[in-house]
Amino acid sequence: MEAYFQINGNKPLSGKVRISGAKNSALPLLIASTMTNDVVVFEDVPDIQDIDEIISILKYLNANVINTPNANRNFVSIDNKDLEYKELLIDEITKFRASYYFIGAFVSRFHKCRLYLPGGCYLGPRPIDLHIMGLEKLGCKIEFDEIDGKTIMDITCPNGLVGSDIFLDFPSVGATINLMLAATLADGDTKIENAAREPEIVDVATLLNNMGANIKGAGTDEIRISGVSSLKGTLHQVVPDRIEAGTYVMLGCLLSDNLVVDNVIPEHIEALTSKLITMGFNLEIEDEQIKIKGVEDRNQLVATNIKTGVFPSFPTDLQQIFITLATQVNGESEIIETIYPQRFKQCPYLINMGANIDVKYGDEQTKAIVSGKTPLVGNEVYSTDLRAGASLVVAGLVASGTTKVFEIQHILRGYDKFVTKLQNIGADITLIEE
Ligand code: EPU
Repeated sequence: MEAYFQINGNKPLSGKVRISGAKNSALPLLIASTMTNDVVVFEDVPDIQDIDEIISILKYLNANVINTPNANRNFVSIDNKDLEYKELLIDEITKFRASYYFIGAFVSRFHKCRLYLPGGCYLGPRPIDLHIMGLEKLGCKIEFDEIDGKTIMDITCPNGLVGSDIFLDFPSVGATINLMLAATLADGDTKIENAAREPEIVDVATLLNNMGANIKGAGTDEIRISGVSSLKGTLHQVVPDRIEAGTYVMLGCLLSDNLVVDNVIPEHIEALTSKLITMGFNLEIEDEQIKIKGVEDRNQLVATNIKTGVFPSFPTDLQQIFITLATQVNGESEIIETIYPQRFKQCPYLINMGANIDVKYGDEQTKAIVSGKTPLVGNEVYSTDLRAGASLVVAGLVASGTTKVFEIQHILRGYDKFVTKLQNIGADITLIEE
């Protein structure tokens, strides 16, 4: 059965959309719950495919998981009383990137982990050398094996897990979180230097500290962890998803003169909102809301340049959607992607819809020049990865005529109640299953 989105574009949007808990926080948070045998309850967990995969893995490990979907905010309660160590040689592990957080959680608690390599969006090579380097510094021995064409990572800690000083050559989000998880129950002190500073890292450290960990400095480039012997249960609210928020803010800029994006931490997307304000969009930024108001003359909007980088720079996860936005303002926008130089797979589809985009691929960074303003016309497009898919949905909502977006499983991996939220603010989008 093939599922796709059918969008009749160019409809004005208005009303209020509430942002859910962050995908990239919720994934390590739920996995971190395996580090205690108490109950951990999460509020505002996004109802998305990647979370379903984790819940299914937790159940396989004998955790008692109660998932309470809710129109507003989902609760997930995880009781780990009967949780037991098992090898993670199951397909679910290969379906999403964040499954590698089981390594940090399992070596911390069980001093071993054997699992398939993680999957996730293909954005070019996504090495995990920094995770491996840090784990080895903490005393892990890592071996690779292959069964039925699938690569297996086998991690053991022959002499236990011992705190260490770790310097990351690049402030990787995944490596920072994985090493923080691993060091939490290690013997002694760990220092992670050149750590990533993304809000998701602060969220994971907050959960672990509330469970009894001793982590200082999360959100700065130096994180210090004093190992503790055990963790307890807690209740945790997932931080709002800054990428989902940025997606709806850009959608509002393109199609609304009255949209409220609610449950946002505006500082988390300042790199985006400051650019939008420079371009001439009319944003009112409040404590937990961003209101998008109309502009007098859309022809007065001006192009701007962005360069992606680690937090607090412009997030790579909003770059592809920004390209769609840039097609709708006069002038040339220069988009430089430094994190994933191949993250432009939506561009050929946007060009087919009428956009004028020139992508010059490089090994270290890629530059795209978007020349606007060009009308977009509905077409059949394919979502190659999560944010490419979101950028094509936004393009379809802006375009005249009908757009069909295929391969939507990538989008459903990351956006909570995507169709319902869009319909509620006036979008003409339908999920069709044939
Ligand atoms: N890198 C290495 N070696 C490593 C780890 C990373 O060279 O050991 C490189 C990567 O190849 C990449 C860069 O460092 O060029 C950034 O990787 P990072 O580890 O920071 O990213 P990640 O943890 O794999 C998370 C998000 C991504 C988001 C990036 C950057 C999750 C599950 N994924 O990935 O989210 O793009 O951080 O902010 O948290 C998305 O949501 O669409 C998405 C892809």
